[in-house]
Amino acid sequence: MSKKILVCGGGGFIGGHLVKRLKSEGYWVRVCDLKRNEFSPSPADEFIVGDLTDPVICREVVKDIEDVYQLAADMGGAGYIFTGNNDAAVMYNSATINLNVAEASRLAGVKKIFYSSSACMYPEYNQLDPDNPKCSEDSAYPAAPDSEYGWEKLFSERLYLAYNRNHGIQVRIARFHNIFGEEGTWMGGKEKAPAAMCRKVASADEGGTMEIWGDGKQTRSFLHVQDCCDAVRQLMDSDFSGPVNIGSEEMITINDLAKLVMEIGNKPLSIKNIPGPTGVRGRNSDNALIREKLGWEPKLNLRQGLERTYPWIAEQIVKQLETVE
Ligand code: NAD
Ligand code: GDD
Repeated sequence: MSKKILVCGGGGFIGGHLVKRLKSEGYWVRVCDLKRNEFSPSPADEFIVGDLTDPVICREVVKDIEDVYQLAADMGGAGYIFTGNNDAAVMYNSATINLNVAEASRLAGVKKIFYSSSACMYPEYNQLDPDNPKCSEDSAYPAAPDSEYGWEKLFSERLYLAYNRNHGIQVRIARFHNIFGEEGTWMGGKEKAPAAMCRKVASADEGGTMEIWGDGKQTRSFLHVQDCCDAVRQLMDSDFSGPVNIGSEEMITINDLAKLVMEIGNKPLSIKNIPGPTGVRGRNSDNALIREKLGWEPKLNLRQGLERTYPWIAEQIVKQLETVE
């Protein structure tokens, strides 16, 4: 009998890819999510559409489960988490999910929990210089994340670590740095920069203009979801509990990201930098710890990841236009 696994948030982007990975490795997988996957059917053995802020649902979905992957969260890109308008919802929804999942897992005798934290938990004071951000795992404290989303992630990291200390549940914690790829949110306000750039380029008229929030000199690094799933699985099967960065060290300015997408789409456009929610000035993954502990490195560089993502988003735009007609 294969190990029984629960993926909380398996109806979302990373969770959906992870469910496919776990099924291909032969595990029995249950998903709990508010919604089903939008872009392809889930291969999960059981898919429970349910709200993890409800403790009763949580107690149901953890029954007979050995390992939990906890990816459910109220999340989005800069347009969602940096406007300030969603702060209370993000904190209430995500903290409640994590409190419920941790306690239900304890009651059900779950052995191991993976928790998806975020680079947004790192202090803003180390991310003011776009050319030289610091995001090593040991730089987390004194804590000063720039968003309530980041504060909730930090709280929940501590929650799972406390369950480990007091109740012996094994935990594995990853701090994801901007994950992108096919089947990720690409429109609607929750999309992150890579998907937004692909959408803007693919839908622009030849020789047109593309709007970018901020001065475009802010920096980030982006990791393809395939590499993210490799790292999560390696971390979960290792003896190392983290917290550990899962990201790319290939830092780029947002204007250069836009230019790279234009190259891939073969569509030169002029860039117009406009005011918008920008978040920290600079962010880059520091992979020294994951390299040392797991020997993990991303396999795809940014261009290779975008060469997979851009055509997928261009196809979604065509599909959407066909439904409107
Ligand atoms: P996503 O929004 O695609 O997936 C999250 C899923 O959680 C969604 O399907 C959503 O419906 C589900 N969910 C939300 N509230 C729920 C509830 N009350 N009950 C049940 N399900 C609920 O996001 P993602 O990009 O796949 O992110 C997965 C995890 O990784 C999240 O915890 C996110 O904070 C974290 N993370 C992601 C990134 C990134 O760049 N994508 C970066 C850092 C951290
Ligand atoms: N989303 C988006 N859309 N961002 C844009 C756009 C646009 O049209 N134009 C410029 N940007 C800029 C943002 O202003 C920000 O400075 C940068 O691109 C990156 O934005 P996002 O990709 O949306 O988010 P982020 O990197 O600030 O934060 C993301 O990564 C974290 C982990 O590193 C979010 O997804 C967080 O939820 C995640 O935890």
